[in-house]
Amino acid sequence: MARDPRPGGAARLNSFREDVIAGLSQPRKALPPKYFYDARGSRLFEAICRLKEYYPTRAELALTRAHLGAISRFSRKGGTLIEYGSGDSVKSRLLIEALHPSSYIPVDISEDVLRSAASKLQRLYPWLDIRPVHGDFSQPLEISVARAKGRRVVYFPGSTIGNLTPEEAHAFLRMTRGQVGPRGAMLVGVDLKKDANVLHAAYNDARGVTAAFNLNLLARINRELGGDFKPRRFRHYAFYNASPGRIEMHLVSLTPQTVNVGNHRFTFEAGESIHTENSYKYSVGGFRALAERAGFKAKKTWLDPKGLFSLHGLAAV
Ligand code: SAH
Ligand code: TRP
Repeated sequence: MARDPRPGGAARLNSFREDVIAGLSQPRKALPPKYFYDARGSRLFEAICRLKEYYPTRAELALTRAHLGAISRFSRKGGTLIEYGSGDSVKSRLLIEALHPSSYIPVDISEDVLRSAASKLQRLYPWLDIRPVHGDFSQPLEISVARAKGRRVVYFPGSTIGNLTPEEAHAFLRMTRGQVGPRGAMLVGVDLKKDANVLHAAYNDARGVTAAFNLNLLARINRELGGDFKPRRFRHYAFYNASPGRIEMHLVSLTPQTVNVGNHRFTFEAGESIHTENSYKYSVGGFRALAERAGFKAKKTWLDPKGLFSLHGLAAV
């Protein structure tokens, strides 16, 4: 049976429960990262973006400001701007001001953040037609692009694409390629491969905000699914795995323990981990090749002055 893609109410809780039970039943336990973003998770994420160690947000904002003229010439003014994983829509403001789209469709799984960002933007830009879509972009989403005016541009910043496997990223780009149509375009923010020490610091901040973000997933399982995780018995662990080229985030059990979620029981050995997220790092060429395999023409790449982060202008040709 097809799942209800609207992450609200009973259907959402059922999917959450099924995904948690399936993930913890595997020989190598894992949980899907989309569940990080409850109200507290979204707030912690915004705090991560302000950390001195977390360079991607600052680098992407800086490069977007520096190249805004070229980005808007590439994307063209007017039309419809669709953004996936829009969160607080802070980066989007730069594009809205430069492109002056007639409509803006932010898509996010985190409902409170989506709604409050949309109403803030509506106050800032009364002329803009804003149509927030609360949904999960890892499943087919009905966005009424048929009524979208003008050229369609999909914006996917924040290296959220790095949280997908390369196979999922390929499928996602194929989906957006279909969505923007033959004259459309896409802007994708992609974090780049670099010194593993810099990456390590970004995902292991001194104040422990990233650790709190990771551990919040267990608190959410307790609250929404009646789990009995003791978050203090788990530790945040993030490292760069060079051969797949990704940061892996884990929650490592500090002791042997059992945890119940509803009427399911899971046992952990000391040192056993739950793999909670990947953050793939690309080379410029590697990402452009991925985009081209998905049916885009990789036309433009903009970098920040230190070459930490990239924004790609993809044309549907
Ligand atoms: N665009 C912002 C936020 C990036 S964080 C920035 O660049 O700073 C990733 C965002 O994607 C969060 O707001 C999260 O709620 C959302 N998100 C994560 N997985 C999602 C999914 N499967 N479907 C829809 N939104 C998702
Ligand atoms: N997509 C960004 C990244 O991979 C932001 C992000 C998602 C993130 N989940 C995170 C950052 C967890 C730190 C920790 O960097």
